[in-house]
Amino acid sequence: MKILITGGAGFIGSNFLLDSVQARKNDHFVNADCLTYAANLQNLSSLEGSSNYEFSRTDITNGQAVFDLFEKVEPDVVFHFAAESHVDRSITGPGAFIQANVIGTFNLLEAARRQKNKDVLFHHVSTDEVYGSLGPQGLFTEKTPYDPSSPYSASKASSDHLVRAYHRTYGLPVRITNCSNNYGPYQFPEKLIPLMIRNALQKKPLPIYGNGKNIRDWLYVGDHVSAIWAVQDRGKVGETYNIGGNNESSNIDLVQTLCRLLAEITNKPEHEYLDLITYVKDRPGHDQRYAIDATKIKEECAWTPSETIETGLRKTVEWYVQNQEWVESITSGEYQEWIEKNYGERDKS
Ligand code: NAD
Ligand code: TYD
Repeated sequence: MKILITGGAGFIGSNFLLDSVQARKNDHFVNADCLTYAANLQNLSSLEGSSNYEFSRTDITNGQAVFDLFEKVEPDVVFHFAAESHVDRSITGPGAFIQANVIGTFNLLEAARRQKNKDVLFHHVSTDEVYGSLGPQGLFTEKTPYDPSSPYSASKASSDHLVRAYHRTYGLPVRITNCSNNYGPYQFPEKLIPLMIRNALQKKPLPIYGNGKNIRDWLYVGDHVSAIWAVQDRGKVGETYNIGGNNESSNIDLVQTLCRLLAEITNKPEHEYLDLITYVKDRPGHDQRYAIDATKIKEECAWTPSETIETGLRKTVEWYVQNQEWVESITSGEYQEWIEKNYGERDKS
């Protein structure tokens, strides 16, 4: 199979390629990524020289470049990961999210439907944030109406709608997966878990938005990867599958757990990390709770996650403690500016 991956140098795409390229020698993987601040090709250095892997620096907002890529690769399957992915950045600069997530997805869909002589299966990787916010009860199912809150989730919702429209209108074979919050190795340290680990190791404040009681449903990135393959191997065309690990946690509970794990792993007293916790002004439009009902993917695709929140978080903290150089190498000047702009000037509550 010829497989085109978009965004393969980002967090989930890198984990996907690292888990898949060597294991699927009969498939050929092309990784198309324009290399934004969130990308790091060094993640994939172990794949260099693999005969079934190649990288193409392609910006999916450039329609002609996307057409040319499809002409060259002639993919059988597209796994579309590329996106602007951070909610806080979408609040300060929504334009980039419309470009990458809406226009970028549109360009890929156009190229896929115009591909000559074959059907291109288009797997769109999306988020549970398209469903908006839950109250204390209930779970997101595939039938939950869309109700996005942030420019990020609205742009992902738009792209999901385009993917479904291309299926209904042009008969493009598509699948959509909506996954809960991921964590694990190679996640850029602007998202909650790697940001907190990095700050804690540097003895910097651990900024908790609002009252810290917002809930997220955490999934280890390797389990997201196995879910995508389960959908590829056993899912139905035209269907949507929610992916989640049934691991709900409030932000404050999660950060306290991270502090305790860090204390154990670095052999320091817990209070050295716990004392860094600082409540800061809330994120505008902050969704209260996300939680996934993953019954459909479990029943139709025989998928179950391998990691519990305990095993996954331990692996993740150990990886970040052992790979502090990786974290520092990707945190460029631009990243420092972003952190300063967003967290430096933030009022304490
Ligand atoms: P990420 O920000 O770590 O990586 C995104 C990648 O996309 C980067 O390599 C970047 O260079 C690339 N990219 C961005 N704009 C591009 C463009 N115009 N052209 C080509 N490449 C471009 O994101 P991630 O966390 O790996 O998320 C991957 C996908 O999974 C996204 O679609 C995201 O919406 C979705 N998702 C993420 C999570 C999560 O918790 N991280 C959860 C559910 C769904
Ligand atoms: P994040 O990792 O940005 O993912 P998302 O917003 O896509 O769910 O944030 C996860 C949760 O952690 C969310 O409720 C916001 C909160 N949060 C903080 O409290 N402090 C922080 O510094 C960050 C980045 C997030």
